[in-house]
Amino acid sequence: MNIVFRAKEDAQAEIIFYPVLQDDKAINALLKKLDYENEASIFTRLKREDFKAKSGQFFVIHDEEQSVVLIGRGEEKKFDLESWRVLAGQMANYLKKQQVKSAGLELDYWLNNKKDVKDLAKALAEGFYLANYKFDKFINKKDKISSFDLENLFIYTDKKSKNIFQKAWQEGVLFAQATALARDLVNEPASTMNPQFLADTAIRIAKENKNISVKVLEEAEVKKMGMGAYLGIAKGSVEKPKFIHLIYKPNAKAKDKVALVGKGITFDSGGLNIKPFEGMINMKIDMGGAATVLGVFEVIAKLNPKVEVHGVIAACENMPSGNAVRPGDVLHSMSGQTIEIANTDAEGRVTLADALHYIQQKGVKKIVDLATLTGAVVIGLGPNYAALFASDDKMSKQILDSAKKEGEPLWPLPLAKEYKDFNESKIADIRNIPNTRGGGTITAALFLKHFVADDVAWAHIDIAGPVYAEKDFNSYTPAGGVGFGVRTLLDWLSKM
Ligand code: BES
Ligand code: ZN
Ligand code: ZN
Repeated sequence: MNIVFRAKEDAQAEIIFYPVLQDDKAINALLKKLDYENEASIFTRLKREDFKAKSGQFFVIHDEEQSVVLIGRGEEKKFDLESWRVLAGQMANYLKKQQVKSAGLELDYWLNNKKDVKDLAKALAEGFYLANYKFDKFINKKDKISSFDLENLFIYTDKKSKNIFQKAWQEGVLFAQATALARDLVNEPASTMNPQFLADTAIRIAKENKNISVKVLEEAEVKKMGMGAYLGIAKGSVEKPKFIHLIYKPNAKAKDKVALVGKGITFDSGGLNIKPFEGMINMKIDMGGAATVLGVFEVIAKLNPKVEVHGVIAACENMPSGNAVRPGDVLHSMSGQTIEIANTDAEGRVTLADALHYIQQKGVKKIVDLATLTGAVVIGLGPNYAALFASDDKMSKQILDSAKKEGEPLWPLPLAKEYKDFNESKIADIRNIPNTRGGGTITAALFLKHFVADDVAWAHIDIAGPVYAEKDFNSYTPAGGVGFGVRTLLDWLSKM
């Protein structure tokens, strides 16, 4: 698809979109400006169809050579950056049904003298491309309208904004691409999406980007390094564990070092504490944190942030077998701390303990981990929100700001001091499940905190809810893998 930026609209597009606010005067003024011969009948239709330009409402005027589509933006005071993303998704979804080759988007009259052209353009591109995402490789009878097939998208901006718009749009395309990779990885069944698949993806990314290098540590090496926690979880599966370490280095001297650690359980059966049907059906998504990290790395070199970024994934599968870790076993983590395994289904935190320790040993003092860690967070925050824990207020604020800007619902929870003893074990240094009921998302975060030094700025994002959409979240997030966190992290890294 070619994106053609024009300062003035022309007759080339088969469909042309006009975003309009929920405001009768604005709608009337626009229709007058479009100057239709049969204006009266259009105003009659407007009334009959009760078009008020509510968010998501469409009004279509068909003409011989060009259809005009007014898309409702809703009320101005409720219309934010995320609304532009949603609007672009609605536009894309409309195009899927029409199957035209060219479309135009009239923005000239919105952009005039606007300060946030850059953010707006980027959000539009994200919504537009992400709405077109599909995962239908296993469906023989493909649904023709599951994606649009445009040759040209014309975007009409005012002269002043054109260049800024174009550059920001391209950045939005990168953000969407990164998100799409994470979605693909989450959607792929666990039979192929095994630790090797994650490692191969990382290797491919490193090959394609000269600023990115990768090391994949095999079982024997990881054993020598003392990662008994991670290997304890991995040993129940015939899939070999792969410990993945990606490094992005900027061209100029790095301003800082940051690590992104992703939970990479390629399938979580629960292990010997096996999950029931409803709990297991979707557990291919348990590598969602790893998918987000790989999504970020897919485009990071093109965005060129000024910091060195490490990506760490302790990939393995959690399976029951004669070799599997048992409830009551004690594992020796790389940090030296012993872990009592009381429930083999609380496996993610155990693998993360070694991943977090490993990257601190490399001298990284800023760490964000992403993990589909607890079912409890879905109970607490529902399907759309991820939970944020942070040991550092500044980092917490930055990440929340980025999430807001990128339209990824994120909500802070406390690293409650009051609960610090809840993970106490009688036979080891720590227990992998709490000895209390309630607050399961917090106690899981507190478990991780045991493996993070006090002088490290650390954030933990529990993405168990929004990693996967049971049904469409919004116009640009169809059911399936969401790619949650990719855009938030890319925005956060770009600002460092
Ligand atoms: N991978 C799950 C958490 C999960 C649940 C992710 C639902 C996505 C959707 C995790 O490993 C797990 O099983 N956690 C247990 C912990 C419990 C045994 C303390 C849980 O949440 O039930
Ligand atoms: Zn589990
Ligand atoms: Zn899990």
